[in-house]
Amino acid sequence: MSLAGQSFTWIRKTLRSAAHCVLLLAALIASLPTPAAAQSSTTAAMPANRYAAADDWWKHSVIYELYPRSFADSNNDGTGDLNGITAHLDYLQQLGVDAVWLTPMFPSPQVDFGYDVSDYRNVDPQYGTLKDFDRLVSEARKRNIKIVLDFVVNHSSDQHKWFKESRSSRTNRYRDFYIWRDGRAANEPPNNWRSLFGGPSWKLDATTGQYYYHFFYPEQPDLNWRNPKVEREMFNTMRWWFKRGVYGFRLDAVDVLYEDPKLKDNPILEGTDSYGGPKQDHIYDHSIPEVHAALQRMRKVVDEYPGRVLIGETWTSTTKELAEYYGPHNDELQMPMYFNFTTINKLDAEKFRERIEAVETNDAGGWPVFVLSNHDIVRQVDRYTPAGADKDQVGRLLAALYLTLRGTPIMYMGEELGMRNNDPTRREDVKDIIGRLAWPKDKGRDGERTPMQWDATVNAGFNTGAATWLPVGADYKTRNVAAESADPASVLNWYRRLIALRRTVPALSEGDYRTLPVSDKNLLAFSRTAMGKTVVVLLNMSGEEQSVSLADVAPRGLRGLAATAATVSGAQVKLSAYGAVVAEVE
Ligand code: NOJ
Repeated sequence: MSLAGQSFTWIRKTLRSAAHCVLLLAALIASLPTPAAAQSSTTAAMPANRYAAADDWWKHSVIYELYPRSFADSNNDGTGDLNGITAHLDYLQQLGVDAVWLTPMFPSPQVDFGYDVSDYRNVDPQYGTLKDFDRLVSEARKRNIKIVLDFVVNHSSDQHKWFKESRSSRTNRYRDFYIWRDGRAANEPPNNWRSLFGGPSWKLDATTGQYYYHFFYPEQPDLNWRNPKVEREMFNTMRWWFKRGVYGFRLDAVDVLYEDPKLKDNPILEGTDSYGGPKQDHIYDHSIPEVHAALQRMRKVVDEYPGRVLIGETWTSTTKELAEYYGPHNDELQMPMYFNFTTINKLDAEKFRERIEAVETNDAGGWPVFVLSNHDIVRQVDRYTPAGADKDQVGRLLAALYLTLRGTPIMYMGEELGMRNNDPTRREDVKDIIGRLAWPKDKGRDGERTPMQWDATVNAGFNTGAATWLPVGADYKTRNVAAESADPASVLNWYRRLIALRRTVPALSEGDYRTLPVSDKNLLAFSRTAMGKTVVVLLNMSGEEQSVSLADVAPRGLRGLAATAATVSGAQVKLSAYGAVVAEVE
């Protein structure tokens, strides 16, 4: 079984190659369907998304995951804030993103940087105020950008008023908001479950002499979803934010919402986890079927507000399991994330093809949601680039993959610049507790959370000089929004180009997917067809040059729409190392 934290750990132990190789430059070929899309410089306006107002806007969108702490620091206190985001909405609009998923910005002691919420209906003062939030929503709306929040449904902070009440006495009216049990013997927790963040999942609380359950840190006690009062509070919180103009929620850790009612011991596996504890198979504290009934009830709340969407952090190892999250009648999550790309971790065309086909044919007929990285996973260019290869070129290749598939891509802030992981080198610098507890086996998640790189000024323009909460990447003088905007061959302009194509070419926004047979196992090729027009995508996942004839598919030739390290001539495509082509069949 694939489990969130196990995956975080596993994924981080991956390729970190120092690389440099000649880049065969991004070159765009022929004309595009609209004049605006034909330009690749930043001055070009992003073409409008004609689905922006539709109820299923999310099917035709690019969603941008934004980590508020690290995006832009408007008051120069070292951490990002809401006003910083508002100030950069034009950038997001020009990039062509349709929705922004904000990771938690609610009041929080920040033990897990916002994933420990102490008040679900407010904004943490270090990020701003509710007024700032309202302004962000309304300014975003003017630019056709929707705001999606991160709803931490599984647990709250131990500083939430519910938990403070709950722990105060066994008879408190909030007692049953959390999961309290007696130990099974003196000084022995109720069962053998291990927290994903190390140690037992139970903590003895001296005031009442009982243990409470926490799948994550002890400061993140699990809410008791079997208590209808908890459900009511959480659903009303969703309504409260919907009324404020929010378009949806990404549900954090939704697969651990329920636990086995009998609290059966998990089977022990061989070996140790990152924290040195015994490994276990999380069958009784993960993916408990009751979650589906709760999601169906939650979806009814969402459907009270047209066009609202539920995205799930759904770490599933099979597409069968993933399909269940769409619901038996498409009545649960519209967008359970498909994480199965994130565990490939090398440029293996066959594996990508297999996983694309698996999600394409999922039992629920659910809309695919593609993810390559996020704030918990090492950045994609570090994970997938083979030793000696050019990370920027691999970044372009990966973008060409998931920005042209049938489905919604959720991109992570900074990947459009080709940002690298900036991992700490000394334990004393680590901010993420995972890194502090598991050092050096696991350096934690700081590396993928460093400040956004805006320009070549102090602190990459993230702020005006105050010490930043995490160090700015050493490459910021050249890898930043300003520099890449001015360079037609930059990773940033490649993203803009592909997103503009998604907006203007119907085959890319709504076409069928079909795998194309290939002559070489390192080549990934597929087509997308809508309204009688076919677009082909060819991706060279190797360092070897590939020459491909698509005469069968395109007897009258191909018209190139976008290419990087590749050329198109008639039906002939030449791809250099890690090259990519998007072309329309004439
Ligand atoms: C998943 C979030 O993405 C991660 O950052 C967090 O630590 C855990 N859930 C716990 O909320």
